[in-house]
Amino acid sequence: MGFNVPSHQPEGKVLNSNFSVDANRLISDLETLGQIGRTPGGGLRRSSFSSADTEARNWYIGRCNEAGLTVKVDGLRNLIVSSPNIADHIAGRPAVWSGSHIDTVPNGGRFDGALGAIAALECLRRIDEERIPLARPVCSVVFTDEEGCYANLLGSSALVTDFSLAELEAMTGRDGDRFVDTFVAAGGRLREATQTKIDPSMLHAMVELHIEQGPVLERLGHQIGVVTGIVGLGGGSITFEGRPDHAGTMPMTSRKDALIAAAALIVEFPVLAARAGPDAVITSGMIRVEPGSANVVPEFTCFSVDFRHPDLNQMLALEAEITSMAYFIGKQYGVGVRVDLGKTIPPVVLDHGIQKIITTAAGARGLSSSSLPSGAGHDSQNMAMLVPTGMIFVPSISGRSHCPEEDTSCSDVKDGANVLLDTLVRLAT
Ligand code: GLV
Ligand code: MN
Ligand code: MN
Repeated sequence: MGFNVPSHQPEGKVLNSNFSVDANRLISDLETLGQIGRTPGGGLRRSSFSSADTEARNWYIGRCNEAGLTVKVDGLRNLIVSSPNIADHIAGRPAVWSGSHIDTVPNGGRFDGALGAIAALECLRRIDEERIPLARPVCSVVFTDEEGCYANLLGSSALVTDFSLAELEAMTGRDGDRFVDTFVAAGGRLREATQTKIDPSMLHAMVELHIEQGPVLERLGHQIGVVTGIVGLGGGSITFEGRPDHAGTMPMTSRKDALIAAAALIVEFPVLAARAGPDAVITSGMIRVEPGSANVVPEFTCFSVDFRHPDLNQMLALEAEITSMAYFIGKQYGVGVRVDLGKTIPPVVLDHGIQKIITTAAGARGLSSSSLPSGAGHDSQNMAMLVPTGMIFVPSISGRSHCPEEDTSCSDVKDGANVLLDTLVRLAT
């Protein structure tokens, strides 16, 4: 990613050994959640608002209720969990939030999002059980549709800026469904979905625990990653509209083949990314072709575009390059073009003070840590626009993620959750 990776050796001894997460409960919760939405290949499919996602959310709410915690659901179904056992004058103060997401990519893994969501709940449970005296509340959160079935980091984006009804109406899911239809069918209210922005003065800090999803920590043999920043996240879809014809009779030179145009653009992506430097990535991971018959020249194709870079100016340049290349190719192949690249979520630098707290907490537990950037998108990049935000990474075995093989050892899960616990307590006291 072009960032330095300084390492921090463990310093001091274990200071908090008598106040830790309940590792058995944490791992058992992760295992239970990891059964919801299982695919035959051993992965997970919990696209937001699917029945599996709803089941996972209901299970999570149930676990909060069993722990005597209070769950608030906002207009876009973000879940905000707090303890009723804190004094009113503290409950009204700016809160320390921690959490992640429980939706997954299609055939994803058990840890992406789930770890941070469950670990935050576990930290809140422990703080509540021990009645740790706090100066401000700690809340555990689950963000809606982090994986962008409808829009990148949908739930946390809505905390920063309200979506308009027109924006919600324009969102289409991975399965081709309209967001508004699915949301209303799931009991959502559109007016409330357009009124989700929060007042940043309600917040004191945000910390997210997440698997690294890459190989850096494992290669270094370090247990904790202190995240320095998160890449910018852009994308949406591009549509080409050509003309349907008989696949046997229409000569190659007389066609308006929408899929050939899409192919011509997609093969340019590595070239455009290389021009923007080694930190740029562009991916097309989803394509729809209509009418979808082997013997009909494709009339219409719509494909996803996902592009990332740690520098905002490079993000904007990439967006402009992709757009102009799409129009150039559309003209070349005689097809209509529509570019919907939506909102770019800017890259962020995470809070230096919280990075220090995480590094110290890791050292105090005898864990080695490294500072590293995140090439994956996270709700924390939206939260960082509202409040000082930090992220803790734990190693991903073989760096694998967004696949059924995604894995993290139990000891890394426990260590990451304990570092999160220490960080939250430090921020809240
Ligand atoms: C989230 O997983 C992302 O980086 O797309
Ligand atoms: Mn993910
Ligand atoms: Mn994630």
